Amino acid sequence: MRIAVLKELAAGETRVAATPETVKKFIALGAEVAIESGAGEAASIADADYAAAGAKLGDRAATLKGANIILGIQGPDPATLSGFAEGAWLAAALNPFGERARVDEYAKLGIEALAMEFMPRITRAQSMDILSSQANLAGYKAVLMAANAYGRAFPMMMTAAGTVSAAKAFVMGVGVAGLQAIATARRLGAQVSATDVRSATKEQILSLGAKPIFVENVAGIEGEGAGGYATEMSDEYKAAQAELVSSHIAKQDIVITTALIPGRPAPRLISDAQLATMRPGSVTVDMAAESGGNVEGSVPGETKRIHGVTVIGAKNIAALMPADTSALFSRNLFNFLSAFWDKEAGRPVLDEEIGNAVRLTQGGKVVNERLLG
Ligand code: NAI
Repeated sequence: MRIAVLKELAAGETRVAATPETVKKFIALGAEVAIESGAGEAASIADADYAAAGAKLGDRAATLKGANIILGIQGPDPATLSGFAEGAWLAAALNPFGERARVDEYAKLGIEALAMEFMPRITRAQSMDILSSQANLAGYKAVLMAANAYGRAFPMMMTAAGTVSAAKAFVMGVGVAGLQAIATARRLGAQVSATDVRSATKEQILSLGAKPIFVENVAGIEGEGAGGYATEMSDEYKAAQAELVSSHIAKQDIVITTALIPGRPAPRLISDAQLATMRPGSVTVDMAAESGGNVEGSVPGETKRIHGVTVIGAKNIAALMPADTSALFSRNLFNFLSAFWDKEAGRPVLDEEIGNAVRLTQGGKVVNERLLG
């Protein structure tokens, strides 16, 4: 069983899909690990560290030769796998909806493509969940980005020259990233409020010492929603939410938006007109910018000034902390493959529940029902 780890070639991608720790663990399972030279450089892992862990280093072709499982952060360009990967598994964040044509290419190459972001939200798969591990750190970093762009301080400070008042931060969307954003903004000393469509988050917001701001007159999603995710809300709810947000947002200094709906564009939570009601110098960080944007006018990877408000469009925040995010992503991949390791076969054998959820292609065809349906 040969596991190949590729250097990420996408612009701005700094993470790597294995660390010396996971290399050692795969070798302990009986696998051989090949790493493309320089794969860990941007995450501060030297080739020598991988070699010391027992990996074989080489160029892309040498790494891919005879590979049974290919690991990546983002889906590699299929053209670079041609001639090497037939019959191999490819496990990475494959962005199946956004990179649909690539999925077809993987099928044509005879690759069994496994999309790590399709991991079901079930208890036994928590340690395999890349969306959670990356969103957690991204939520933290988003608050630091806001703090950095904000021309004032977060905490209240009493100085001899007078008092500096605490920043008011509002977190919209309280999933994994939002919870970490609340905790981080609190630690920095901001007064924090937060909202979500899922009623279950109210308790979580309170337990972090923040104030819940919820639509009361129209029902949201009771409990957790399907698989813990939100769905698109009714027009009536959207109107009530917009009214609530309008009255709240004008009093906020920092707004972090994280709202996503799987397989659909991100919901628009802040309109241009609402931005105009915010104080000049306020900051918004739109963590959903790459999925269509929660904030009108936000552009992924760009910081804009709209009506005096700094509008930061997030783009791959996880890549700004590659040492930690790579370590967690790599462990997610190891936890996934090792959980299914069949000692006699010397390779992983997926069960139906998780296999069918993550498998995009098999036998030359696209097989995942979320892509076919
Ligand atoms: P996500 O990244 O899909 O969305 C972020 C948040 O935005 C969610 O809380 C969602 O309810 C909210 N949202 C969507 N539309 C909105 C709107 N119009 N207005 C306001 N908020 C809106 O969600 P994430 O972070 O992936 O987590 C979703 C849930 O899944 C959480 O309850 C989390 O605890 C659960 N979860 C369960 C796991 C497991 O059991 N293995 C692993 C990870 C998360």
